[in-house]
Amino acid sequence: MTAPVKPGPPRWYRPRSLRGKLLIWLVPLYLVMALLSGAASYYRYEALIRRFMDELMETLAYSHGAGRIEDIAPLPLLSLARANENGAVVVQLWTQDGRLITSSRSDAAVPLQAKPGHHLLVDEKNKDQLWRVFTAPPGVRANQPRVQVLQSERFAKEEVARRTFFAAVPIALLVPVTLLVLWLVVARTSRSLHSVADHVARRDHRNLDELPASQVPEEIAPLVGAFNTLLARLQQAFVAQRRFVQDAAHELRTPMTAVALQMENLRASVPDGQARDQLAQLEAGMRRAHHLVEQLLCLSRQDASATPPPTDPVDLTALLRESVGQCMALADRRRIEVGFNGQVAPVFRASVSDLRSVFDNLLDNALRYTPEGGEIEVRVHTAGGRAVVDVVDSGPGLPHHMLERVFDRFFRMPGAPSGGSGLGLAITRAAALRQGLSVELRARDDGASGLVARVRLPA
Ligand SMILES: Nc1ncnc2c1ncn2[C@@H]1O[C@H](COP(=O)(O)OP(=O)(O)OP(=O)(O)O)[C@@H](O)[C@H]1O
Ligand SMILES: [Mg+2]
Repeated sequence: MTAPVKPGPPRWYRPRSLRGKLLIWLVPLYLVMALLSGAASYYRYEALIRRFMDELMETLAYSHGAGRIEDIAPLPLLSLARANENGAVVVQLWTQDGRLITSSRSDAAVPLQAKPGHHLLVDEKNKDQLWRVFTAPPGVRANQPRVQVLQSERFAKEEVARRTFFAAVPIALLVPVTLLVLWLVVARTSRSLHSVADHVARRDHRNLDELPASQVPEEIAPLVGAFNTLLARLQQAFVAQRRFVQDAAHELRTPMTAVALQMENLRASVPDGQARDQLAQLEAGMRRAHHLVEQLLCLSRQDASATPPPTDPVDLTALLRESVGQCMALADRRRIEVGFNGQVAPVFRASVSDLRSVFDNLLDNALRYTPEGGEIEVRVHTAGGRAVVDVVDSGPGLPHHMLERVFDRFFRMPGAPSGGSGLGLAITRAAALRQGLSVELRARDDGASGLVARVRLPA
């Protein structure tokens, strides 16, 4: 059989969370969209502004070129700052043979271009200044001036960049806003999933009711539905299994009682000797089987009851004294000293049968696993503000890693004395939990060999 392949830890590019997945897909998508839209806007604005500027320069050139050279007055001067910042144009008027008559900017060093049309030229004095130039074709009359119009290229570039920036800003803003909205939506959705998970976490095998599907998103509802179907099937299976165990244990009880009775009768007619020993062994085996059936019945009854048994005010001191009293005969036979001491336990509401289950099983263990001549003490005290009952024995104790394991059904320590079924501690814990008590096993505080079974009462 091949071992199941475990999914590796999530990597940054392969996250397992929905939030991570959405981010990993959407952030690059938005960035690419923002870049593409920026580039598209740039080219569109560039074409638009260029065409607008070219048309403006051409109109200006033709309107200035219509007069006669003799009538030309000096043009009003324009500063370089204005040309760069506002895109103001510079107009130059020339004679047909290339002599500058007047210019709206005296320091614009661009000679008259022989070829009419649009040019891109560097200023001859100021190499940082780049000009878009329109040279009008010569007029038909000899006394017409030649016109050249200049406009700062830096202005055009800055204008295109500015407009592209404003076009890209909304998309750039959309990235954090969408991510924030996504984050909130996913957080809300996962909150509803967490509430379903909480419902599941609070369940045990006795509570397999349907999970609420109304709170989860539609996409998750089929999963919850499938889970509910599984829960229903599990519940049926549990009920069938419990009924089987209960019926089997119940059915076994009657023939076993009959066999025990037969053996009792047989005893009188069996002579002393080997046959008597064998009968004694048979009787011990019968007792073990009987004990197992009783424990099984007890466990299946606990499992079957969905509602806790009725509670009454319980005088714990009296209940403990009674339990101790009941095991005195066996303790005497095994020369085990059983002591009871400590404070007076509080009176509280609980089910007497559950409390008896807890303390009888713990005392039974202490008696069974403590060797002859040992000691058992039932101690009542307070720890951490809660009343505590300790059943302390001087037996072999348990290794640390087994202190929890022994609560498993049918688990017995290898080499444990025969007679037990391995169900006592499972019954103890289930009964304790139902009454709000906690049970744990621990080593003795004084370092001596033995075990302490500690029961904490509700706060
Ligand atoms: N006081 C103890 N000292 C040493 N070992 C213990 C003690 N109590 C329990 N154990 C170990 O834990 C195992 C499980 O105990 P549990 O009470 O569940 O079953 P059991 O005593 O074997 O049978 P049952 O209680 O059903 O008659 C025991 O078999 C024993 O090995
Ligand atoms: Mg036991």
